[in-house]
Amino acid sequence: MKRYGNIIGWGKYIPPKVITNADLEKTLDTTDEWIVARSGIRERHIVGEEENTSQMSIAASRDALNMAGIHPKDLDLIIVATSSPDYLTPPVSSQIQHGLGANKVGAFTLVAGCTGFVYALATAQQFIASGANETILVVGAELLSRFVDWNDRGTCILFGDGAGAVVMQATDVPSGILSYVLGSDGSGGEHLILPAGGAANPPSQQTLDAGMHTLRMNGREVFKFATRVLGRALREVISDAGLQTEDIDLFIPHQANARIIESAARSVKLPEEKVFVNIHKYGNTSAASIPIALCEAFEEGRAKVGDTLAFVAFGAGLTWASAVVKVAPHERPVSKRWWQQLLPRWFSRNGHRQVQAIPRAFLRCRLKWSNLEERLNLTMRRFDR
Ligand code: UT7
Repeated sequence: MKRYGNIIGWGKYIPPKVITNADLEKTLDTTDEWIVARSGIRERHIVGEEENTSQMSIAASRDALNMAGIHPKDLDLIIVATSSPDYLTPPVSSQIQHGLGANKVGAFTLVAGCTGFVYALATAQQFIASGANETILVVGAELLSRFVDWNDRGTCILFGDGAGAVVMQATDVPSGILSYVLGSDGSGGEHLILPAGGAANPPSQQTLDAGMHTLRMNGREVFKFATRVLGRALREVISDAGLQTEDIDLFIPHQANARIIESAARSVKLPEEKVFVNIHKYGNTSAASIPIALCEAFEEGRAKVGDTLAFVAFGAGLTWASAVVKVAPHERPVSKRWWQQLLPRWFSRNGHRQVQAIPRAFLRCRLKWSNLEERLNLTMRRFDR
């Protein structure tokens, strides 16, 4: 039976501190009119001194898990998309796993710039489709306010901080990612780069003096790239799902620039009312922008369970990704074997693991028994000779 990864819970965390365009006017040679006209951004949320990426992610994940009715101990895997982890190592995904109190399940961080969340969703889908996992937490989190040069008016006006998370669970109801497209063109890497801090340019007094530890962006080139790839990625993913544009209930794009969103929507002839935009409130929250927008779309009633959604993103790499996602009701869990259904989870929160351990133990006994049989047969054959 085919297995799908339905999205059964979503959550977000937005730091309370707001920086408006008027605030930026006080320190930069910019105006509210310029920022709104060129990007659509009116304000962005920025973390306080005590906050970091793992904390934002844990808050968003708790929201998503509560909504899904899933205990962190019931997760099988955690995938986190971010380019701004707390540390280069340990991976922020392990900090999130520990902070949530999830069992010692696999957790990894995936880096694909602003496109990361769609890459992470597509990855989670593979683990579910293969039968490897039942329930996966997918997080998109970003704290770019600590990686931008607040004197560079070309970049700092764009970015904001935040986190979003979804819980994906196995089901036999057609849902989750119906199709996806992932793309990358590393030849444009220098257009959006954090030049130092990695192995190419490890931190030194020189890199610090040269201001190489903050994001550098050729906005015009990234803009051109985005308008080139997004429409194509959207058309491709909708057709791969066997659908027409009219079948998409809501288009939830990466929130990077209102003009880029309009151009992508126009290229697939999506009417304005089918396009979700919240960039005016949060700016570009990179890998967090789609999960945050997804949450808000549901909160505002723009998206409903049963809807078919289209995600599209682009970002550092340069990368792009799109996905058609159907959100189905989640009352029908994936079909389980009779013994998994009959034996209730009485003995502990980990009851299902113990229930699953019974047939595994049975199988081990059978293997041991067949080894024994094999040895006996061998001995008998020796005697026969
Ligand atoms: O998730 C991926 C992350 N990156 C992006 O999404 C970035 C994509 N690019 C963009 O969103 C746009 O390129 C920007 C919003 C960054 C800039 O808009 P633009 O229409 O491409 O402007 P521009 O870079 O071509 O700059 C036009 C002018 C320049 O002045 P000159 O050279 O024409 O005299 C800039 O110096 O605007 C100037 N400028 C500003 N003026 C006022 C640049 N930033 C500002 C500013 N305020 N904040």
